Amino acid sequence: MVEGLYIHIPFCANKCPYCDFVSFVSEPSKEYLELLKRELELSKDLPFDLKTVYLGGGTPSLYPTKLWREFFKDLDTRGVKEITMECNPESYKRGDFEELLELGINRLSFGVQSFLEKNLRFLGRWHSPKEGIRAILEAKSAGYENLSIDLIYGLPGQTLQDLREELKVIKDLPITHLSAYLLTPYEDTLFGHLWQKGELKLPSDEQIEEMFLFLSEELSSMGFEHYEISNFAKEGYRCAHNLLYWSHKEFLGLGVSAWSFINKKRFGNYRNLEKYRRAVLQGEKPIEMEESLEGEELLKDYLFVALRTRDGVPKEVLPNIPDHIREFFLEEGDRVKLSKRGWLLINEILLELWDEVANP
Ligand SMILES: C[S@@+](CC[C@H](N)C(=O)[O-])C[C@H]1O[C@@H](n2cnc3c(N)ncnc32)[C@H](O)[C@@H]1O
Ligand code: SF4
Repeated sequence: MVEGLYIHIPFCANKCPYCDFVSFVSEPSKEYLELLKRELELSKDLPFDLKTVYLGGGTPSLYPTKLWREFFKDLDTRGVKEITMECNPESYKRGDFEELLELGINRLSFGVQSFLEKNLRFLGRWHSPKEGIRAILEAKSAGYENLSIDLIYGLPGQTLQDLREELKVIKDLPITHLSAYLLTPYEDTLFGHLWQKGELKLPSDEQIEEMFLFLSEELSSMGFEHYEISNFAKEGYRCAHNLLYWSHKEFLGLGVSAWSFINKKRFGNYRNLEKYRRAVLQGEKPIEMEESLEGEELLKDYLFVALRTRDGVPKEVLPNIPDHIREFFLEEGDRVKLSKRGWLLINEILLELWDEVANP
């Protein structure tokens, strides 16, 4: 059963120097929304039991809300319990939030990144700390209960004192969820190029560990459960859509570069907008790559996503953890999961586990 729908909106007002998501600096295209609907039609034979919808980007909030109204008119969202939209803080005002809520979009995820002016300027963002706060408060007063923010940490020269200042602001905000991402210098980004040339100096592994554990402890003491490597939620507010990804449930991705996982297959759409458009207009699924997961590969894929979460995996999935990495695992009832130090070393630990999976 397909339980999640991800919709990728690839338009942005500017390209941030760290971002490797597929996004183009352009006005949001009205035609693109039509293409998404046509693409969904091409998959109408799939067995759907939709529980979540996620509008991600790019910048979904570049579209005027009246276009979202038209889009949702044709989308059957009966039974869906969570509809999230990623929102840039400078995009919408209180009236827009009221309309989005009316359309059934009941969760907003704001790309705040930081509440410190110097960090926002470094990250090339166009909003100010005040605008970040304003967006959250206006969404709340429009009636939103489920509000999330994205933060980026691990910036050059960042200190625990900087993080303390972020948390001081966060403490007073009506948010129910927070994602804290470690700044990653992806290859094809400006930051990636600078980092490769030695012109961007990122914190050491020890400093990163210190920041990660600091955020984990401080946010926990503020009532946020650290339920996935980069995600924190107040009770009852874990992101249901992302939980589908991490528990190997089936989801369909629509739009340029969107990924799906259906029937033990991962497939990805064209990353090129024109190729995507042509395929959809010709009535073909715009799939660029496809990978079938069987046996060992399926298990590896499951461990890769599920060990990111606090719930981990059932013990019977990992009956033999090699002795030399056992210290990074915790057992809780019938589940086994990574400790926080294990999360910090997840890639290395997974490599060790692959040997175990291949030669049990
Ligand atoms: C797909 S982006 C879209 C959100 C929205 N357009 C925005 O930027 O406000 C989702 C989140 O990924 C995170 N992100 C993107 N690139 C990153 C990078 N190189 N390192 C760490 N986090 C990153 C940011 O926190 C961002 O808010
Ligand atoms: S971080 Fe967000 S706003 Fe910036 S380029 Fe990426 S998707 Fe666009």
